[in-house]
Amino acid sequence: MTEVNTHTAAEKRDDNRLIIFDTTLRDGEQSPGASMTHNEKLEVAEILDAMGVDVIEAGFPIASNGDFEAVKAIAERTNTSVIAGLARAIPGDIDRCAEAVKHAKRGRIHTFVSTSPIHLKYQMQKTQDEVLEIIAATVAQARNLIDDVEWSGMDATRTPIEYLCKCVEAAIKAGATTINIPDTVGYTTPAEYKDYFVQLRERVPGAENVIFSTHCHNDLGMAVANSFAGVEGGARQIECTINGLGERAGNAALEEIVMAVQTRSDALPYHNNIDATHIARASKMVSAVTSFPVQYNKAIVGKNAFAHESGIHQDGMLKNAETFEIMTPESIGFRETSLVMGKHSGRHAFREKLLELGYDLGENAFQDAFQRFKDLADRKKHVYDEDIEALVDSEMASATNRIKLVSLTVIAGTGSAQRATVTLDVDGQHKTHEATGDGPVDATFNAIKAIVPHEALLPLYQVSAVTEGTDAQAEVMVRLEHEGQTATGRSADTDTMVSSARAYVIALNKLQQKQERVGNGVSLVG
Ligand code: KIV
Ligand code: ZN
Repeated sequence: MTEVNTHTAAEKRDDNRLIIFDTTLRDGEQSPGASMTHNEKLEVAEILDAMGVDVIEAGFPIASNGDFEAVKAIAERTNTSVIAGLARAIPGDIDRCAEAVKHAKRGRIHTFVSTSPIHLKYQMQKTQDEVLEIIAATVAQARNLIDDVEWSGMDATRTPIEYLCKCVEAAIKAGATTINIPDTVGYTTPAEYKDYFVQLRERVPGAENVIFSTHCHNDLGMAVANSFAGVEGGARQIECTINGLGERAGNAALEEIVMAVQTRSDALPYHNNIDATHIARASKMVSAVTSFPVQYNKAIVGKNAFAHESGIHQDGMLKNAETFEIMTPESIGFRETSLVMGKHSGRHAFREKLLELGYDLGENAFQDAFQRFKDLADRKKHVYDEDIEALVDSEMASATNRIKLVSLTVIAGTGSAQRATVTLDVDGQHKTHEATGDGPVDATFNAIKAIVPHEALLPLYQVSAVTEGTDAQAEVMVRLEHEGQTATGRSADTDTMVSSARAYVIALNKLQQKQERVGNGVSLVG
């Protein structure tokens, strides 16, 4: 029972090989407002698999039927990545997780329990000895169900090392193959985090038979630095997310970890399996499906990460790009923006363009996207790559929704009250309502609210242009909030009112799905 599984053992043999464990679909997806639909999760998993991610944490199967189905579907469809599911240290969670990952080529149960004094006292209301017993029992249960078991000590970095050693020892004895030391609240510093790994590897019997893992949150902006400090201390798995998505300030960003290793191999002499040219696409996709914009100056994937405006920088770049660029945009899959298509472009050219942009749509989705492209090309002289991406992303975001915008007519301007007539498709039935409001956006949202009554508040409504020019598409972001749950919708159209209505409807669908999901009382963890 305690034999280490072949995958882990093989990776352990190569001392400088880093295992990249992506938790965008679990830790990332549970951050406020970032929920994804079933199909969106499959799309993200597909790109993570293609990019060479070693382990994809696909979700938290006990959280809801939706989470379970998503983890199961990802397990069934993924080619090479190990598929992990998260489980609390509760027998029912572990059984459900095993059920969800069992169809994967290689599945993993990732079980966790709190270890810090503050969590034991207030959250668990258990003694240290009780928690040690729970670790032994639940890890053994998981290991009887599957060969690949990861154990995490939640809030490990606020746990005294003596007690953490006992917890890790109990987990290893019970059969854990990976030991994760999460910096759950983003509290640690590089030197301190490194020392945790050094101590654990020196002091815990059996430590040489397992892989140690980092899992760093970014509350103090040190998640990536801490992850590498953990690696220096002997960790060989890094848990991270695309765009650094995750609870509160997020997790260590996958793109930063991968590009740091690629760019600074002299100082970071490690290697991994990631094909970095997929990063730009993965970043855009995660941003689109979660409706979380990427901050302009975000390392590696921000809009400005490769932009040079000051005279001195531009001059240097023209003479030799290496004067101010330590990596190329191409190395992470960014292309030059190009003027692409117009209203005379046909189906074949459009499909080729989609493939070039990384979208391989099924026939129905393709026909819908083509129709919207034609409509756009009728209204907009120049259609850029960004326009097509915005169009397809918002199409994908609403494809499986129960509520869809069918039509919208708005009367605005001076002289009379603003008025909107909205028709929605709700579970296949068309419903129309006319409403007034304080401006056309308010009138539109009031009409939607009359068709789908709800109490959600609107903490964010934001409009930006996708490209330049007065005929640019307006990208609208809408965030809704109800009883502590938030959901964000994003949509683009040359008509700001249409994109506002669509974004609102997308957010409403996501909020409903999220509320159904947490309806069973399972609280999500960071
Ligand atoms: O941050 C954390 O502690 C977690 C664990 C569930 C691994 O996400
Ligand atoms: Zn976390």
